[in-house]
Amino acid sequence: MKIYSIAIDGPAGSGKSTIAKLLSEKLGIIYVDTGAMYRTVAYYCMEKGIDTKDGKAVERALDDIKLEIKMTDGVQHMILNGRDVTGFIRTAEVGQGASDVGTFVPVRDRLVEMQQAMAKKCSVVMDGRDIGTVVLPNAEVKIYLNADVEERARRRLKDFEAQGKTGDLAEVAEQIRQRDHNDMTREYNPLRKADDAVEIDTTGMTIEQVAEVVLKTVHEKTGE
Ligand code: DC
Repeated sequence: MKIYSIAIDGPAGSGKSTIAKLLSEKLGIIYVDTGAMYRTVAYYCMEKGIDTKDGKAVERALDDIKLEIKMTDGVQHMILNGRDVTGFIRTAEVGQGASDVGTFVPVRDRLVEMQQAMAKKCSVVMDGRDIGTVVLPNAEVKIYLNADVEERARRRLKDFEAQGKTGDLAEVAEQIRQRDHNDMTREYNPLRKADDAVEIDTTGMTIEQVAEVVLKTVHEKTGE
């Protein structure tokens, strides 16, 4: 069977991971969450007291980081220097740290290389910020998801609540705005829609409605 790739990009809370997971289940292909990789680098720095905004310090830290991805029953586990840190990286603070470390060229180059190696081995649906533009410029399918910042903040809050955490809507919206700004204005490979990506504004759409549009696009482009 031919190997193919699906690239999903978009800002924080646009529904990328929900849609990517769904596609991976429906199509029987691997879901690679690239945000988790940036989060793991940030988590290492934060644990060691390294400023995630300090490029030189983060670059030095990279030498001490061994990053592995383990797929267990279709779930991606992040292994940092032999330790499974998957359960610790989904906080807003680590998300902001990930956005910070993602501005540095050595970090991006190292993670992009890992991502490209994974997509060479088997069919993947990969989500992130630079997948359609940089990581997999030849992906058979490229999707760019977007939504109003208020709606994205509501979704994030729901995710937090599902994890038993609380949060303030205005505060979450502000964090998302800041992260979008950081991701879209960084110098090296910022978040942007690939010219050949299909853009979907998911504001007011249910997951099922978004999935239907995406699956139709995948079918048109790959026959799957
Ligand atoms: O998708 P996420 O919220 O887990 O991503 C966390 C941060 O990681 C995001 O704000 C920017 C960075 N990131 C990136 O720069 N490039 C990617 N391909 C994925 C994430």
